[in-house]
Amino acid sequence: KNAYEICVVHGDGIGPEVCQATLRVLEAAFGEALPLRFSEYPAGAQHFLKTGDSFPRETFEACHSADAILHGAAGIPGINHPDGTEAGLDFTLTLRSKLDLYANVRPIKLHPGVRSPLRDAAPGAIDYVIVRENSEGLYAARGAGSLLRDEVAIDPLVQSRKGIERIVHFAFELARSRDGAPQGRRRRVTCCDKANVLRSYAFFRSVFDEVAAQYPDIEAEHVLIDAMTVHLINRPSHYDVIVTENMFGDIISDLGAATIGGMGMSPSAELGDGNGFFQASHGSAPDIAGKGIANPYGTILAAAMMLNWLGLRHADPRLIDAGKRIETSVTYALADKSVLSRDIGGTAGSLEITEVICAGLRERV
Ligand code: IPM
Ligand code: MN
Repeated sequence: KNAYEICVVHGDGIGPEVCQATLRVLEAAFGEALPLRFSEYPAGAQHFLKTGDSFPRETFEACHSADAILHGAAGIPGINHPDGTEAGLDFTLTLRSKLDLYANVRPIKLHPGVRSPLRDAAPGAIDYVIVRENSEGLYAARGAGSLLRDEVAIDPLVQSRKGIERIVHFAFELARSRDGAPQGRRRRVTCCDKANVLRSYAFFRSVFDEVAAQYPDIEAEHVLIDAMTVHLINRPSHYDVIVTENMFGDIISDLGAATIGGMGMSPSAELGDGNGFFQASHGSAPDIAGKGIANPYGTILAAAMMLNWLGLRHADPRLIDAGKRIETSVTYALADKSVLSRDIGGTAGSLEITEVICAGLRERV
């Protein structure tokens, strides 16, 4: 391919700022020979306020046909549908289900130069990936739950064999292929569930075990979700790849992010067989929007994931290489130059961070 189509949706709050920063970094990573074509489409709570539509049809079509989707952030508190659900969430949740983005990949990596609130967090000590099942689990109940006579509410938790098999295979393949993590020990996939109490999680675990048997080169283990919250604080260096149900993945990925500098440092990739959707894990932070102080690192790291995913998919080493160089320049900015935004204990604004990363990239183009 000569150029890959990237559908860019800025969204709400700090979304436009972190997207602008990321587009500049992508341009700097390739110099003159940019193999990406950006097109911008609206969605989100602001767009809903203006037009009554949070996710226009044309935006969906553009996302569907693009090679990848890059998103800023979504949501404005209090901008809701009549049923009380947040209008800003429509974009992400609808994309997940309509494009069947079943694998939500959330790397939890402590970058050199960033301080962790954990006592025992030497550089390199936190470097694992949460693979969140993104198409079923408790989230499958969205729009399908029921409220009986205003007395009882029910949301079913659905786990299918097909859904579990594909996410567990995804996790084992990722463990085989990913850079970083364990030194001097075998690759490991941890199944995180609540198999001791609920049937759906026991089924998740039993299908996990069947799939794990097909990967004898990789260590497989189980841990219960409640214990997991303790382990991710006390021994994060133990983990390599963690696979878990949708809701549990939602929760522990925020917990993990808190150990590596917060949501602003945490990228997220939502992948299906045909589409990839990339954003930072943070929300739209309306309180700091427009002030130039938003942390763009998470979105920039998500863009690096996007390049890596596109590069592998299309066997295009230019993209894989550019993704690696962006990561290297992020490390340069954080560790060598100490350019830290407020949320990670510094004073740098989005523009300064972007410029330092771009300068790091230009030196290496
Ligand atoms: C996330 C977010 C979403 C979720 C919201 C925005 C619907 O918290 O991506 O983790 O709950 O999955
Ligand atoms: Mn979440």
